[in-house]
Amino acid sequence: MRKRNRDSIVIAVPKGRVLEQLGARFEKAGIPTGALTAKSRKLVREGKAAGLSFLLLKADDVPTYVEYGAADLGVVGRDVLMERDYDVFAPVDLDIGRCRMMVCGLPNEPITGRGERPVRVATKFPHIAEQYFRSRGIPVEMIFCQGSVELAPLTGLADVIVDLVETGETLRQNGLVELEHIADISSVVIANRVGLKLRREAIEPILDALRG
Ligand code: PRP
Repeated sequence: MRKRNRDSIVIAVPKGRVLEQLGARFEKAGIPTGALTAKSRKLVREGKAAGLSFLLLKADDVPTYVEYGAADLGVVGRDVLMERDYDVFAPVDLDIGRCRMMVCGLPNEPITGRGERPVRVATKFPHIAEQYFRSRGIPVEMIFCQGSVELAPLTGLADVIVDLVETGETLRQNGLVELEHIADISSVVIANRVGLKLRREAIEPILDALRG
């Protein structure tokens, strides 16, 4: 296994739809990201700026790499941090990857009023969903789905879903509507707590540039 170079700053970033916006945001902050956005299967990308490298990860894994110090910094949606507790510091909101966590379902079907049985909720975010419905005093049965969760109300698997909505296009094309707003989501920079203290001179300028 390739051990990380302790002299370079390692930034964990999520593969997927936010990567393009993220590249632009880094460039604006004066951090070159050609290596990050290049079409390649490489999971470690050496940045053009000396001493900077990127790890390309599934979004859910970004805080794990940062918490354990395998990466100094990471970029992740607030949804990931809401769904599980991680011991990381979140110093900068990047104001990209904006979307909302919503309860969605078929039109004209209220969330409650299904007799004695709990409302069946399909979601990739069981913790967020559980907390939301508990705060509203609505008994629910959680059904965990990895993706394409919009299918659940259409097929009768669940009554409603809790999911991220960005443009609303997936809902529209599948005949679902937004029912209740749970939270606004955006991408944030997270930092390893110890790394931030020990390597402040190297990390703080990056955070400052991203804040700008
Ligand atoms: C996300 C989310 C919705 C969709 C919303 O899914 O779970 O399905 O995006 O975006 P929209 O409002 O712009 O249509 P993603 O594309 O990440 O895939 P997934 O269904 O596999 O989670």
